[in-house]
Amino acid sequence: MDGKIETVRAKVIECTECELSKTRTNSVPGKGNFKSDVVFVGEAPGRNEDLHGEPFVGIAGKKLSEALEEANVRREDVYITNIVKCRPPKNRVPKTSERDTCKQYLKQEISIIKPKIICILGNTAFNSLLGGSEITKHRGRMVRKEGQLYFITIHPAATIYNQELIKVLRSDIAKMFHLITEIKEGRDVQIDFDYPS
Ligand code: URA
Repeated sequence: MDGKIETVRAKVIECTECELSKTRTNSVPGKGNFKSDVVFVGEAPGRNEDLHGEPFVGIAGKKLSEALEEANVRREDVYITNIVKCRPPKNRVPKTSERDTCKQYLKQEISIIKPKIICILGNTAFNSLLGGSEITKHRGRMVRKEGQLYFITIHPAATIYNQELIKVLRSDIAKMFHLITEIKEGRDVQIDFDYPS
């Protein structure tokens, strides 16, 4: 892995800047290819992630892996991370103060990787990165803010008990990789919403 991403990783592992560090087993830095065209951003580690120190290794992670497979993308070729890097007790939604404290790490990951697209997984990431809500209304869209492209989709955990949503996640992720190909081949892609600067 690149030196700089290793530095972020080491800082995340040692971080004690918020209360979540007191209840975690392991902090969970991002994982994957730092040369990826896409960075996937979830909410926060759950129980399995806390035990293993890796993002998306539980059931939600399996759903994400399946959607990647369906799009013919290997998990190790992309970079996967979260808004907050430590598990909130009982998997509660991370507090604004925790997200604010932790956002330095995501910022650093993004500035090193410089992804073509940031893939927002679910409401917490949508709200933290773009101030959005009601993910189901906005999913499937590509938006641009301050020159960065974002693709919005549902959280893989939402698909666990809903077969219809697994189709949605899979088709969104396939669509996003199709858009990445178009961008790499120099074609214009549709931007569904441009945030005013
Ligand atoms: N849910 C998330 O948002 N992130 C993980 O890493 C696992 C489950």
